[in-house]
Amino acid sequence: MQQRTLGTQGLTVSAIGYGSMGLTMAYGPGDEQAGIAAIRRAYDLGVTFFDTAELYGMGTGSNEILVGEALKDVRDDVVIATKFGFDLEGGFRGGLNSRPDNIRKVTDNSLRYLGVDQIDVLYQHRVDPDVPIEDVAGTVKELVDAGKVKYFGLSEAGPETIRKAHAVQPVSVLQTEYSLFERDVERLFPTLRELGIGFVAYSPLGRGFITGAAKPAGEYDATDMRNGDPRWQPGNFEKNVEAVERLTELAAAKDATVAQLALAWLLAQGDDIVPIPGTRSPARMEENAAAADLALTKADLDAIAEILPTGGFGARYARGLPTWI
Ligand SMILES: NC(=O)c1ccc[n+]([C@@H]2O[C@H](COP(=O)([O-])OP(=O)(O)OC[C@H]3O[C@@H](n4cnc5c(N)ncnc54)[C@H](OP(=O)(O)O)[C@@H]3O)[C@@H](O)[C@H]2O)c1
Repeated sequence: MQQRTLGTQGLTVSAIGYGSMGLTMAYGPGDEQAGIAAIRRAYDLGVTFFDTAELYGMGTGSNEILVGEALKDVRDDVVIATKFGFDLEGGFRGGLNSRPDNIRKVTDNSLRYLGVDQIDVLYQHRVDPDVPIEDVAGTVKELVDAGKVKYFGLSEAGPETIRKAHAVQPVSVLQTEYSLFERDVERLFPTLRELGIGFVAYSPLGRGFITGAAKPAGEYDATDMRNGDPRWQPGNFEKNVEAVERLTELAAAKDATVAQLALAWLLAQGDDIVPIPGTRSPARMEENAAAADLALTKADLDAIAEILPTGGFGARYARGLPTWI
């Protein structure tokens, strides 16, 4: 697997990472053993970058425990990223909490749940308008100085926040949604490249839409967030399906799947970009990891741009789109 360097602090990871959110939330009931098998398969295929979060366990640590368990034998060979920033007291109600005392508490919990001495990448999951970003970055700096954290990341932050944070504690990476369906974040790339900050593309398969496996809203498990996702709603759904069908034909001509094409397209947008697709399936993990070897020509990229010039149809969140400051 090719390696990529994110930021200028020394963070080097596999070109395709792995996101564990779907193992415990968002996409219907998970299967713990399948999740562990998918993570282990990822590692065997050369994936060294694993993404989790306090939020994915809703404050119980369940997702971090799963990731820690799956990687315990290879801990020193992998990069584990987790995130703080939500108020999960009494369950998830969407509230944020990046107050320094909460950051310290969540970090200690994550170290314990993951079963590690140090978190490789600690992200602020969402910018908290009630806490100055300098205080957040200063708290992470303390944790870096204490040896509990190695690299600092932000998620869904805007240029002003990134600059202010970076001045206090160097930011190695920004994580935000980015895929053939979601292109808005490209306007932040000049700032990231000016500051030497890497980029992690989350939901790189458009939450599973750009795989050919999308079903109409309502056909997923009742707990699956895609039932309410605007991209799945009538009107948008058919147009997105048509685009994915055209992309699938393009991929087939290269002996690739549409998921591989979608991931290879992301890799082609810059060598400072790493997608972190999520799956509960070892077989799909194999498919996704192989995207690192799929080279796209200028003609391929032009053909993709002709099918989806600016992204998919429908907003990426049903409500409360993150605002970048
Ligand atoms: N920072 C943030 O705020 C934030 C937000 C969202 C996500 N993330 C991170 O990004 C990671 C990835 O995003 P995501 O999980 O939302 O979306 P994604 O990777 O775009 O898509 C995941 C979905 O696609 C399906 N899938 C994966 N590979 C497939 C393949 N080859 N063929 C068919 N279906 C496939 C998975 O189903 P199966 O499991 O059934 O294979 C799952 O339902 C998350 O796990 C999380 O770590 C971060």
